[in-house]
Amino acid sequence: MRMPVKICLFCLIMLIFCSVVWALPDYYTLWVPVDSVAESRSPYWPAASSDRYEPYTDLTWDHPLRVAFSSDPHFGRPESNTEATKAIIRSVNEAVPAFHAFFVLGDITEYGFVEAQWQISREVFSLSTKVPIIPLMGNHDDLMNGRSKFLQYLIPNATMEKSRKVLWQRIDLGPVHFIKLNLMWGAEDWGPDVEAWLEAELASIPRDEWVIILSHCFFYSSGSYKYGVPWFDHPETTALIAPILEKYAADLSFAGHNHHMELTTHNGVFYIVTGTFGGVLSEAPFEHHSPTSLWYQKGTHGYTDVTVYPDQAIVVFRDTEGRAIKRFILPQNQAR
Ligand SMILES: [Fe+2]
Ligand SMILES: [Fe+2]
Repeated sequence: MRMPVKICLFCLIMLIFCSVVWALPDYYTLWVPVDSVAESRSPYWPAASSDRYEPYTDLTWDHPLRVAFSSDPHFGRPESNTEATKAIIRSVNEAVPAFHAFFVLGDITEYGFVEAQWQISREVFSLSTKVPIIPLMGNHDDLMNGRSKFLQYLIPNATMEKSRKVLWQRIDLGPVHFIKLNLMWGAEDWGPDVEAWLEAELASIPRDEWVIILSHCFFYSSGSYKYGVPWFDHPETTALIAPILEKYAADLSFAGHNHHMELTTHNGVFYIVTGTFGGVLSEAPFEHHSPTSLWYQKGTHGYTDVTVYPDQAIVVFRDTEGRAIKRFILPQNQAR
């Protein structure tokens, strides 16, 4: 083949290749291997209160870890109840004994591409003057590349290049290990790199310590059909990821995405739904009651309060003012 023809062919192939790469959706372009040793275990400093965060080192009956969870405030949606969100933050902030951290599990905004909704989130989260807020991203936050704004507004020093290491991350508070999974609609961001990372992290945690899984999308949950798809017992997350959590005897999982409170259990893991941070609540009767469900509550905003002792956790579902709705004492995973 003559040289000019070869050059033309090469240029044509490069042109096609570049067009395909450019056209890939955002999460593929962020598909970089996770270096769990180098970065995922570094201390975590939340945006809202880095100067107040005290790393936790101990866990005894006299010195338990206390953490709060809630999800789905949906700032910017006219029907959202931002006063309920603020009341929950005040309740967590003023609680005695104090909470060590407050995990907010996504759908922080209604539309993640709208700058003003992230400004509201910063403003409202700044009410938490004593308890650091640790945010995860939800499917609404990620709309139209909203993740760049999620990182910009809520994660200090984060960049798009390093976003995967922020979205899939292990946070150690003494012997209680939190693992953030970037599950939004479901397992769309799951892949071989994070599967290997998750297995390695879970395998490295001593059996007598605690593993608490955090994600926006739930695993086991009651619910109904939305847009014709089952919004309950998630077909992807329960098939692809829950078996790994159960294999390594994770203790608790917290998620939102469904806007109610629920405790379920499957193969030794307790799965908790706590999507009641101010978004529109699920009130209609569930079309599907999960066979894994132990308890649920609809129509009430609130949060979940967890105190972790050496071999059991006290889980209290609370309303916006901090009043207890339901309490459970949950043992560490019996498979350990
Ligand atoms: Fe939501
Ligand atoms: Fe969601």
